[in-house]
Order: sequence, then C-alpha cells, then structure tokens
Amino acid sequence: MKHKLTKKAVTCMCVLAIGVVSVGVYACAPKANTGVPTPSASSPSYIPEANKYGVITAESWADQYPDQYASYLENNKNTWPEGKANKLELYPEMITLGKGYGYAKFFSEPGGHTSSIYTTTHNGRITEKTKTQCLACKTPNVHYQVAAEGNDVWKTNLYQTVDDYTDGTKDVSQAEGISCANCHENNDPSSLAILRADWKRALGANADKVPESAEVCGQCHCDYSMNAQTGEPTSPYDDVTEMTPDNALQWYDNHNFVDWTYESTGAKMISVRHSEFEYNYGGEGNHMAQLGYTCADCHMATEVDDQGNAYTSHYWISPLDNEELLKNDCNTCHKDLKAEVQAKQDEWKTMTQNAGQRASVYVKNLEKAVAAGSLNDEQLARAQYIQRAATFYWNSSFAENSKGAHNISLFRHVIDQCNTLLDEGDQILGVTSDAKDFQSEYNPDVNTLDFGSDHYYNQQDPETATQDYGTEAAQKYGNQ
Ligand code: HEC
Ligand code: HEC
Ligand code: HEC
Ligand code: HEC
Repeated sequence: MKHKLTKKAVTCMCVLAIGVVSVGVYACAPKANTGVPTPSASSPSYIPEANKYGVITAESWADQYPDQYASYLENNKNTWPEGKANKLELYPEMITLGKGYGYAKFFSEPGGHTSSIYTTTHNGRITEKTKTQCLACKTPNVHYQVAAEGNDVWKTNLYQTVDDYTDGTKDVSQAEGISCANCHENNDPSSLAILRADWKRALGANADKVPESAEVCGQCHCDYSMNAQTGEPTSPYDDVTEMTPDNALQWYDNHNFVDWTYESTGAKMISVRHSEFEYNYGGEGNHMAQLGYTCADCHMATEVDDQGNAYTSHYWISPLDNEELLKNDCNTCHKDLKAEVQAKQDEWKTMTQNAGQRASVYVKNLEKAVAAGSLNDEQLARAQYIQRAATFYWNSSFAENSKGAHNISLFRHVIDQCNTLLDEGDQILGVTSDAKDFQSEYNPDVNTLDFGSDHYYNQQDPETATQDYGTEAAQKYGNQ
C-alpha cells in the first residue's frame, strides 16, 4: 500500500455516536479542523546511502525532512528509566501471575521511541539467553536481516545481534532504534509503509478498513506471542476486523500457543502485550476510531515551523500533554478531557488490580489443590485452563498503556471475562478467591527495580546513554 500523506477532513459518522454520548462531551461535530495548514511532503530529491542491513537511517534524512527529524529527536526527552514507575512495586500481583516469565522479574513503564535499544539492553528481564526476536519492535534492522537471511535470525542471541548493530563498539546509541523505515518506505519517508511481515499477514484481506497512520503503530502497539517453531513474534489474528482480546485468546487456543508453563500448577500460560491497536480499532472500534481519528491524530499533532510550514510532530506524547491540541481539537467536543480520562483511569486501576489480585489468590488455591492431589483429571485440566484464560484477560487490561483511556467499555468487558472465569474456578476448587486475601498473604517484597547490573551491557557501558536525562520528561511522564 503506497500513498502520499495528506490529512483530509473525515466526515463524522454521527449515527454511531448517538446514544453513547456521555456527560462531558458537547456534541458530535465533524473531526475538528485545527486551523493549521495541512502537512505535506514530497519524495526525496536524493536517496541517502543505506546502512549495512539496507536500512536508510533516521539521521540521513535530517537534511531533507528537518522538521520531522528534529521532532523525532525530541523523543530523547522521554527518558528511561528516569521518571518511570516500577510496575512490580505498584502491581505486585504481576509477580504471582507472571511467575516463571520475564515480566515478573522486571517491568517498568516504557520510554520514548529513540531509547528502544537502550531499554532493551539495560533491563533486568534480559539475560544471556534472550533471543533477537525481542528486537522486532525496537529497530528496522532486524526485519531487513530476516528478509535477507531467513527466520533463523529470530532465535539468535540478542546481545550478539546488538553488538553487530553497534559495529562492535557496544555503544548502543550507535544502533538504529525505532526509525523512519519502521513506518515509511525505506526510500521515501513521504509515504507510509508497514515493515513487520507478520503484522501484514495478521491485517489480512481487510487491511484497508483501518487508516494506515494507525496500522503503522499497530505493528508494535499490539498483542503478539512467540511462535515456538520459528521464534517469530506472531500476532493472534488473521484479519484487522477481528482484533479483539476474545478473538486473540481463541486464536492462541486454536493454534496451541504457550509462552510458558506455570511450574506449580502446570497451567499453559500466554503473556499479553500492550494491545493499544486492538483497544482502539478492534471489532467495531472505539468512539474516536468511529469518528475517524487515528493514533497519529491524538499522539502526533500538526505543528508549524518558523517558515510557516506545517508538519506532523514525530514526538510521540500523550494528547493530555499537548495544550494546543486540546484547545484546537479535543475541547471542541470534550468539556474537560483531562478529568474524563482521569476518571476512566481511576476506574481501570481499581477493577484491573482487583481482578489481578483475585486471580493471584486463585492461583495460590490451585497450587494447594495440585499439591494435595484433590482434583480429578478433568477438573485439573479445566482449572489450569481457567488460570491461563483469566490471567490472559487480566493481562490484556493491565498491559495496555492507556490505562483505561482508549476504550473503557472494552476494559470492563475483559475484566468481566476474567471474573466470570474465576467464579467457575472457585466452584471447581471449592474455595472462594478474594482480592482481600492477596494483600495479607501474597504481597511480595519488591521495592526496587533490578536493572540486572551484572548483565553484559550494563557491565560494558554503564555510561552508554547519550540521551539528555533532563527532568522535564520525567515530570511529563512521571508516575501517576
Ligand atoms: C517499531 C515498533 C513501534 C512502532 C511502529 C511504534 N511504536 Fe510506539 N513504542 C514502541 C516501543 C518499543 C516503545 C517503548 C520504548 C522504550 O521504552 O524504549 C514505544 C513507546 C511509545 C510511546 C511512549 C509511551 C510512554 O509511556 O512514554 C508512545 C506515545 C507511542 N509509542 C506511540 C506510538 C504511535 C502513535 C505510533 C504510530 C505512529 C507508534 N508508537 C509506533 C514501539 C513502536
Ligand atoms: C512510528 C512511526 C513513524 C516513524 C518512526 C516515523 N514516522 Fe513519519 N509519519 C508517521 C505518520 C503516522 C505520519 C502521518 C501522519 C498523518 O497522516 O496523520 C508521518 C508523516 C511523515 C511525513 C509527511 C509529512 C508530515 O509531516 O506529515 C514525513 C516527510 C515523515 N513522516 C518523515 C519521517 C522521517 C524522516 C522519519 C525518521 C526520522 C519518520 N518520519 C519516522 C509515522 C512515523
Ligand atoms: C482519541 C485519541 C486517541 C487515539 C486515537 C489513540 N490514543 Fe493513545 N492515548 C490517548 C489518551 C487520552 C491516552 C492517555 C494519556 C495519559 O494518560 O496521559 C493515551 C495513551 C497512550 C499510550 C500511553 C503513553 C502515554 O503517552 O501516556 C500509548 C503508548 C498510546 N496511547 C498509543 C496509542 C496507539 C498506538 C494508538 C493507535 C493504535 C492510540 N494510542 C490511539 C488518546 C488516544
Ligand atoms: C467531534 C467531537 C469530538 C472531538 C473533536 C473529540 N472527541 Fe473524543 N469523544 C467524542 C465522543 C462522542 C466520545 C464518546 C463518549 C465518551 O466516551 O465520553 C469520545 C470519547 C473519547 C475518548 C474515550 C475513548 C473512546 O471510547 O472513544 C477519548 C480518550 C477521547 N475521546 C479523546 C479525544 C482526544 C484526545 C481528542 C482530541 C485529539 C478528542 N477526543 C476529540 C467526541 C469527540
């Protein structure tokens, strides 16, 4: 799919919003015109030289697309780990539910796109055994390597691959992180293009039903699991219109996907990743998707440079941190978007944490039943499946980075699914699982992030970060 980028007004499908407009939204009007010129860009006048994998790096477009490049560099302000919350400390249920898998060892809030190689090599989840597959959402290089050398690349050693990306210098700031070629034609940043091959497969025949300026984000901001045979990160869908958590679980079940086995209970677990795409566009899509908004409309506002040229900001931030966008666009319908989002996030936190802590208590109850041998084969199989599926639903809500903002009704649905499964599990075990019991019994003592100081990259280059660890970003993205 190749087309020139122009922002066009999208007709409001008011019909879809009637009846669901809640307090706080004035009325349904067409997608707002921000009163700034439409960004446009022409194809490059010359094609810079590619790196050794065939990727044309971000830096080499600096002269031809200065506004996009300069705003892209602003992501350095969204530093990591400074200012980021330790999710294991905030949500200790993660440690019980994810036991045996990496996220239970180390889980923090994310940073900006330009720090992707740094965060990958400097966190306590990564070990000498970690495979290159984790780089699928961190750099375009790996996709070019797989295209040239085949699927075996996914299973190679991550540290060695990053060594290669840094030309042996081990200075990760030299490695190309998330970059133009992830979202654009390698030869022409004025055209959008999806790079991740499995995501193209997963979008299926109806790919054109969702705007490409959302689909490029979805290739990483989506759920996926590792294919046991090929090692490739694989999305649990075959069509863009079917990308819901319910369908994902069905797909994993049908395809026998297992991320890890929970040792004490024998349950075959699935880890769910940040499904921002699904919560916005899955099924019928949320209200804003139905109004024609894309990820870029909310997270990449239009700006105007000193010469009066409009361009799309490539500094990926929360719309709530963009007062211009709120004033010119969002607040033409929303009375107080910040307060609305806060209310949704408060609700999300209470219900998600409650379900997660309840599920942890269920796992402990199942553990005891397994140790006592009190279940017959059929009961055991069902109780194990309930651990898999209930944790899947909790994890779907928990890992979505908007924390409830993108689609509160879908968050409510997945938490309902989790609780319904746990009700059935309680019946089988003959014990009630209650979040209240979590606090007293299972709250583990995790107060600091283990950055894996004994790990390879931490030893090699403790001073690697060339990012500006200023406080501004930390305040902006600070713990909420
Ligand atoms: C190639 C994979 C990839 C693509 C494509 C991608 N992202 Fe990301 N995004 C990430 C990763 C990985 C992080 C976390 C980076 C880190 O912590 O090092 C991230 C972080 C972010 C953040 C910051 C999160 C925070 O809490 O500070 C925002 C916002 C974001 N992305 C929005 C988008 C939007 C909008 C698009 C599409 C225009 C997009 N991303 C496309 C991989 C991607
Ligand atoms: C994570 C995805 C992503 C990355 C990485 C990215 N872009 Fe973009 N870019 C977009 C999206 C999405 C749009 C279009 C926004 C829209 O149509 O609403 C865009 C638009 C553009 C445009 C069209 C003019 C404009 O400003 O809208 C140019 C030129 C461009 N990008 C250049 C670049 C360059 C150069 C880089 C690397 C330094 C880059 N982009 C990196 C997603 C990305
Ligand atoms: C209608 C506007 C809207 C759309 C469309 C939208 N988002 Fe968001 N997004 C938000 C809001 C609001 C938040 C909560 C921000 C906060 O807590 O400050 C958010 C939060 C996030 C975050 C957490 C990081 C942060 O800045 O707080 C990420 C990552 C993200 N969105 C990615 C995406 C991706 C990827 C898409 C498209 C698949 C998308 N969003 C579509 C409005 C939107
Ligand atoms: C044309 C009117 C209109 C504009 C402009 C508008 N919204 Fe909305 N928005 C709605 C309606 C209607 C709803 C659905 C009712 C609700 O959830 O409060 C909604 C819901 C939302 C939601 C909840 C998620 C969901 O289910 O859709 C978010 C987040 C959101 N809007 C963010 C934004 C942001 C950010 C902007 C500015 C970039 C914006 N909106 C601009 C009308 C609008």
